[in-house]
Amino acid sequence: MRVPMIAGNWKMNTTVSEAIELVNEMRQGLDEIDNVDRVICPPFISLAPVKELLRGSSIKLGAQNIYFEEKGAYTGEISPLMLADLCEFVIIGHSERRQYFNETGEIVDKKVKAALKVGLKPILCIGERLEENEAGRTEEVLTEQLSSSSARIYYFSGLILAYEPIWAIGTGKAATGKQANETIGFIRQHISKQYGKGIAQDVRILYGGSVTAENIAEFINQPEVDGALVGGASLKAAQFLSIVKQTSGIRQVR
Ligand code: PGA
Repeated sequence: MRVPMIAGNWKMNTTVSEAIELVNEMRQGLDEIDNVDRVICPPFISLAPVKELLRGSSIKLGAQNIYFEEKGAYTGEISPLMLADLCEFVIIGHSERRQYFNETGEIVDKKVKAALKVGLKPILCIGERLEENEAGRTEEVLTEQLSSSSARIYYFSGLILAYEPIWAIGTGKAATGKQANETIGFIRQHISKQYGKGIAQDVRILYGGSVTAENIAEFINQPEVDGALVGGASLKAAQFLSIVKQTSGIRQVR
């Protein structure tokens, strides 16, 4: 069963007081919608106060990153154990981390495993660069990003995938609904071939990249798209609420 999901990735935005203000603006509206999983991913330092604020709410909380070791001399890092009782989800392998912080496939894989070990649900981001897309290499790149010797356990453990073409992130140039559907269909087919149809039918795969209240319907109307990972538009309460509301109206559990 695939419950639609809208996750807001706040990236490196909002101070603690701004985060609290933003949650206060959206909380009531988001709580009224219960057929969509609503996840917000504020910066690390806002997780604890936002968790407090969300007491009694059905809005779920996620982190934006994680380190793969449990504890120790890793100055500045945040471990899976530290997050486990603060939030339910964690974004892993976002293209900004791969690009600016040199996260390789191997590191991403370690992070996914470390998250699963403590019961955090990873939202694993994959996606191709513009030049890879233009060279017709999208499927090859995604296959590579999905290939891990331990990938089988990913899908049995509630992992969520987010297909985010890098050329669409923060550019205002979203993919079309048709493109997202085709590529997510390819990803599901790949999982089906490797690990079986049952698993492939259960894995939620989101689209991400310049999703707004104006274009969300185009994505949600596609049969393969289970929701969205939203960056910029998740920082505006009215936009985010509208995205979730439209999703709720269009998409039922599959
Ligand atoms: P965007 O970001 O919606 O601002 O394009 C999406 C993401 O990076 O997850």
